[in-house]
Amino acid sequence: MEEAIQTLQQWVDESQHIVFFGGAGVSTESGIPDFRSVDGLYHQQYSQPPETILSHTYFERHTEEFFRFYRNKMLFPDAQPNNAHRKLAELEQAGKLTAVVTQNIDGLHQKAGSQCVYELHGAVSRNYCTRCHRFYPMDAVMQSEAVPHCDCGGIIKPDVVLYEECLDNATVDGAVRAIAQADLLIVAGTSLVVYPAAGLINYYRGRRLVLINLEPTSADARADLVLHDKVGRVLEQLQVR
Ligand code: APR
Repeated sequence: MEEAIQTLQQWVDESQHIVFFGGAGVSTESGIPDFRSVDGLYHQQYSQPPETILSHTYFERHTEEFFRFYRNKMLFPDAQPNNAHRKLAELEQAGKLTAVVTQNIDGLHQKAGSQCVYELHGAVSRNYCTRCHRFYPMDAVMQSEAVPHCDCGGIIKPDVVLYEECLDNATVDGAVRAIAQADLLIVAGTSLVVYPAAGLINYYRGRRLVLINLEPTSADARADLVLHDKVGRVLEQLQVR
């Protein structure tokens, strides 16, 4: 492992346009479970598979049940950034990292100080009335009983991409542009099984693709450096210089 860290350090030193592509595994060290690990959200018992509950159809047809699941399982207001989030913010401040592209909705990258963050699946901090489009903070959903309603009577919907919904075009465009121009792409904490998000790493044109993931992924074979380790533990060892 030490040799791999040294190689990563050298590549970071030599790069000015680093992009980080992350998933739920980046936030597990902050106490937020991921989805597909053995202790992840998708391996716990529910009346329906979580992918069904977190879908547009379910939101429309079983709104109260959707919000019960969403409030219990998707909101972590006390979670704090971990070493991975903090190091990425440091790399951006040093002018070496141009963007974080994340599938996470927890806002921890911004909490750590990252400025350029493409949230492919939205964010729990943003909630909008489906009727008048008024903005509401996460508390409006956290503190509501059953289904949160706007003053106008409309339902307040979290700005997260549910199954069956499309990603935001501007967010995808920005993420693709950053990845295509990167001289080092670090992919971490993601099983790379959910599209179109996982497909964005195919826009990378560089020769230094790094994978940091506890379990093997479909991209391991084409990566230039693979570390099967905790992303927080790996990144905290990097010097920013
Ligand atoms: N360091 C490195 N890897 C980790 C860590 C860690 N500390 N913790 C977990 N992992 C790895 C797991 O081994 C797993 O391969 O992170 C990966 C997380 O994969 P998923 O749980 O599938 O999460 P993700 O890839 O982000 O899921 C994509 O699926 O349900 C949707 O919208 C949801 O954005 C999510 C999308």
